[in-house]
Amino acid sequence: MLKLNVVILAAGAGKRMYSSLPKVLHTLAGRPLLTHVINTARKLSPNKICVVIGHGGEKIKQSIIGDDLTWVIQEQQLGTGHALTQALSQLDDDGLTLVLYGDVPLISEQELCQLLLIVVDGKSCAVLSTIVENPFGYGRIVRDVDTRAITAIVEQKDASAEQQDIHEINTGIMLIPNVYLHKWLPKIRNKNTQHEYYLTDIIAMAVKDGVHVATSQVKNFWEVMGVNNKYQLAELERLFQRHCANELLSAGVSLIDPARIDIRGELICESDVEIDINCIFEGTVKLGNFVRVGAHCILRNVTVAAGSIIHPYSMIEGAEISENCKIGPYARIRPGTRLSSKVQIGNFVEVKNSQIGVESKANHLSYIGDSCVGKNVNIGAGTITCNYDGANKHTTIVEDDVFIGSDTQLVAPVKISKGSTIGAGSTITKETPENQLTLSRSKQISVSGWKRPPKIKK
Ligand code: UD1
Ligand code: CA
Repeated sequence: MLKLNVVILAAGAGKRMYSSLPKVLHTLAGRPLLTHVINTARKLSPNKICVVIGHGGEKIKQSIIGDDLTWVIQEQQLGTGHALTQALSQLDDDGLTLVLYGDVPLISEQELCQLLLIVVDGKSCAVLSTIVENPFGYGRIVRDVDTRAITAIVEQKDASAEQQDIHEINTGIMLIPNVYLHKWLPKIRNKNTQHEYYLTDIIAMAVKDGVHVATSQVKNFWEVMGVNNKYQLAELERLFQRHCANELLSAGVSLIDPARIDIRGELICESDVEIDINCIFEGTVKLGNFVRVGAHCILRNVTVAAGSIIHPYSMIEGAEISENCKIGPYARIRPGTRLSSKVQIGNFVEVKNSQIGVESKANHLSYIGDSCVGKNVNIGAGTITCNYDGANKHTTIVEDDVFIGSDTQLVAPVKISKGSTIGAGSTITKETPENQLTLSRSKQISVSGWKRPPKIKK
């Protein structure tokens, strides 16, 4: 078996994006275009992955992590053939190179494996093509009239009127044994409309040298759609999201509207999960059996255990939610939060870096930060843990069976001992004794004869 090398071409300026960000760093499904391509390449376990960069190269290197990547600089963007030539010295002499494009992000491992199977002998080349309704802008696959064998790839701008009618297009993805690259790349000339060194010219060279060029047609067109402008980026995003939604539906997840969901990472669902419209899932999100997510929720790196309900407009990040909890509507749960089973976090409640015990509730307008709350605790409306003294953060401990009256401030560090009751409107700065009522409030007074100020006439 030949050693597999992957070269990802990503040096182009991406002028049509009208952006200072290099094209391959624009995101699709929450990840840079280039990251999608690299992740897919890694799945093939190649001997080497080279990424050809040029325009915005430094920014790309900073943004994309990977010790396994070999960065190759293409100083001037003189065409795809010139780009691959820059990587030539890095490739294994006895290798086979798979060319991928940084702006064709969604090619799947399965399609690439198909292509690899075709050229295992290392004596032929392979090109991934597809038939499209509107081939405008793509290189056309030109075939022999009689044998139907591929004879050349002709770019849009160089195609004759007759060739422009061809609907089979070059996806850009090809596999070529490195011995042939050494032979053909130096022969590419830039005598074409764009004065570029086209990689696609090597196909005609292969045919001339009697080397067999196999073609494989990709099933899903969106897998090979290129991103050249923001319109195509948005279009591809929707196509991909629809694909993700379809996969979820096939696996038994209920989506109220599969056209209104965004998955920017990995969403793993157990059975009977129901997701309402306009939810966004980022990073890794796991939803257990019978979990329901209401409309307009954002979940990022979250685990929600069986039977929990997330009501609409809630935002949850970096949290672990146990079984049968009720969250929201309008709840905000921030990183470091762990909710035990049957916890209720209601509207306009923010929880950060806190643990909350079984069956405890904070149902209205509260902030719970850097806290450890026991079980069966009731946190009244408007309760605030004052965790920050302007310089440092401090911890609040609320033990089991505590009842905290509304509009209370717990000034950390502070401990509310087991079974305490805190009177509404208190500011608690010291540890409270167990099972007693503690309150800090000035006495209520009434001033007789007091009158409201009269309105002054102008
Ligand atoms: C290319 C193909 C075309 C194919 C289409 C599929 C050639 C000549 N044409 O056209 O047949 O149908 O892709 O999407 O190959 N790049 C460099 N250095 C350069 C030029 C480009 O690294 O000097 C990179 C770009 O960053 C990009 C990729 O190569 O990731 C493709 O370049 P682009 O200019 O977008 O080629 P297309 O015109 O789309
Ligand atoms: Ca392109």
